[in-house]
Amino acid sequence: MTALRDDLEKLKGEGLFELQGLETSDDLEAFRHRWLGRRDGRLSAVLQSLPGLAPEERKEIGRLANELKALLETSLSEKTKTLDDARVSAELARSAVDLSLPGSPLPRGGLHPLTRVMEEITDAFLRLGFNLAEGPEIETDDNNFTALNHPPDHPARDAHDTFYLKDFKDEAGRPLLLRTHTSPVQIRHLRAHKPPLYIVAPGRVFRHENADATHSHVFHQVEGLAVDTDISLADLKGALGLFAETVFGRGVNVRFRPSYFPFVEPGAEVDISCTLCRGRGCRVCKQTGWVEMLGAGLVHPNVLRAVDLDPDKWSGYAFGIGVERVAMFKYGVDDLRLFLENDRRFLEQFS
Ligand code: DAH
Repeated sequence: MTALRDDLEKLKGEGLFELQGLETSDDLEAFRHRWLGRRDGRLSAVLQSLPGLAPEERKEIGRLANELKALLETSLSEKTKTLDDARVSAELARSAVDLSLPGSPLPRGGLHPLTRVMEEITDAFLRLGFNLAEGPEIETDDNNFTALNHPPDHPARDAHDTFYLKDFKDEAGRPLLLRTHTSPVQIRHLRAHKPPLYIVAPGRVFRHENADATHSHVFHQVEGLAVDTDISLADLKGALGLFAETVFGRGVNVRFRPSYFPFVEPGAEVDISCTLCRGRGCRVCKQTGWVEMLGAGLVHPNVLRAVDLDPDKWSGYAFGIGVERVAMFKYGVDDLRLFLENDRRFLEQFS
C-alpha cells in the first residue's frame, strides 16, 4: 500500500515535470495520450491494478489515482492555454501591422453655414406639406418682372439693380438677366401646374450693388407660394409662425409691418422677435426687439391674371426669406462677408 502510494507520488512528480517541458501542440497531444490515454496511459495502468487490491487499499489508491488524474488534466489545460497565448503574442509581435493602433483620421467636410440654413428653412416648409420647386438663375424679364406685376416702366424695377446679359435676348427681344429674386419661380410654377399648390423654392439671386457688411451681389432667398381657394392673411401668418418656431425655437413671435411689393396686395415686411435679447432690445435688433427676416403678402390679382388664373376663384400668399439675414441672426454674425470669404477658420465653427 505504501509502495503504491509512493509510486503515485512519483508519477505525480514525473508527470508535472514532463508537462513543464512541453512546447508544441503535438507535444501536448502526445502527453495526453501517454498519461491519460484510456487504455495504455500510465494512469490507467494504476487504475487497472485496483481490482487486485484489498478493499481498503483499493479505495485509498483509487482516490489518490483519481486526484492525480484530475490534477494532470487541469495542469494540461492550463499549459495548453499558456502555449496558445504565447503563440498569439509571438505572432502579433512578428506581424508589421498593429491592428490596435488608431487609424489616421480623414478630415471631415461639412456643409457651408448658408447651405445649412437654406436647407433648414426649406425643410421647415416641406414638413408643413409644401413641395420643392426650382428655377434657373438666368431669367427672362417677363418672369422676373412683368408677370410679377412690374410693367416695363415701373419704378420698382429700379430698386433691383439688375445684371443684364445684353447679348442674350428672350423671344420678345428683351435681354435676359440674372434673377434679382426667387419670385420668378412663382410664375414658372404657376404656368406649369394647376392650383391648389404649395411650394418652396430656395436659390441664389443677384444684384448689382456694392458689397458691405449687409449687402452682397450674390445672395440667397427661399421663396414660398401657396395658391388655393380662400387663402387669407391668417394662413400666411400661421405658416410663417410655424417656420419661425422651427428655425429659431419655440416662443418666437412674428410681426407684420405694411410694405409694398408689386406682386402682393397687401404686402408686408415680416419681423421676428429678437431671440438674442428676448425682445428687450440689443445691438443686433438695434434696441427694437425685432429683426426683419422676409417680405410677404397675398398674391396680387394681376399675378394670377398673368398666369391665366381667375382671381375671383383663386387666392394665394407668397413670401421671400433672406437666407443671409436668417444665418447672421441665428449665428450672431454681424458681417455678411464672413460667409462669402470661405476662410476655413470661420467655416469650421459651423461643422
Ligand atoms: N422678392 C422680394 C425681394 O427680393 C421678396 C418678397 C417680398 C418675396 C414679398 C415675396 C413677397 O414672395 O410676397 O425683395
